[in-house]
Amino acid sequence: MKIVTYPDPILLQAARSLDGVDDGVRAKIEEMKQLMVLEDGVGLAAPQVGWSAKIFLASEDGLLENTQVFVNPKIVEERGGQEWGEEGCLSFPGIFGEVRRHVEVEIEALDENGQPFRQVAEGFFARVLQHETDHLNGRLFVTKMRPADRAANRKLLDELRERHEARQNEASSPGSWPGA
Ligand code: CO
Repeated sequence: MKIVTYPDPILLQAARSLDGVDDGVRAKIEEMKQLMVLEDGVGLAAPQVGWSAKIFLASEDGLLENTQVFVNPKIVEERGGQEWGEEGCLSFPGIFGEVRRHVEVEIEALDENGQPFRQVAEGFFARVLQHETDHLNGRLFVTKMRPADRAANRKLLDELRERHEARQNEASSPGSWPGA
């Protein structure tokens, strides 16, 4: 399992809802947790590892033991107005910018045992939950970024696109075919 970076098409698609949480799903969630911590993330959505599933992880302090699992999450309430704050994303290495988010959200989801729960979050953690929920709907933080920040990151975004294109060409060229 590895991190999928922009502009891989899976990041732009809505992920599929899960019928439930079985051992196979739990095993993949465990792998995602290890990867998120290894990459120093505070959130990771399934599409970011190439998996079209409505699942994300979030940890306010990036610690493994504080990592929460959200399956089929839905933000049911937004409160307290909106505020700007800096965000980054494991699928956009090196890119940071200010995004406007709701100050407080209430979210409903299933946990890793398939049990429904409801949680209220505010400030930074509310921001993480909104960023990750967006991932499950194919929405990326760069599209919500303050225009000046997006402009400042334009070169890095171009480089990510060029790198992706180079990888695509490499994958389809006969030279990289392993042979028989
Ligand atoms: Co992200």
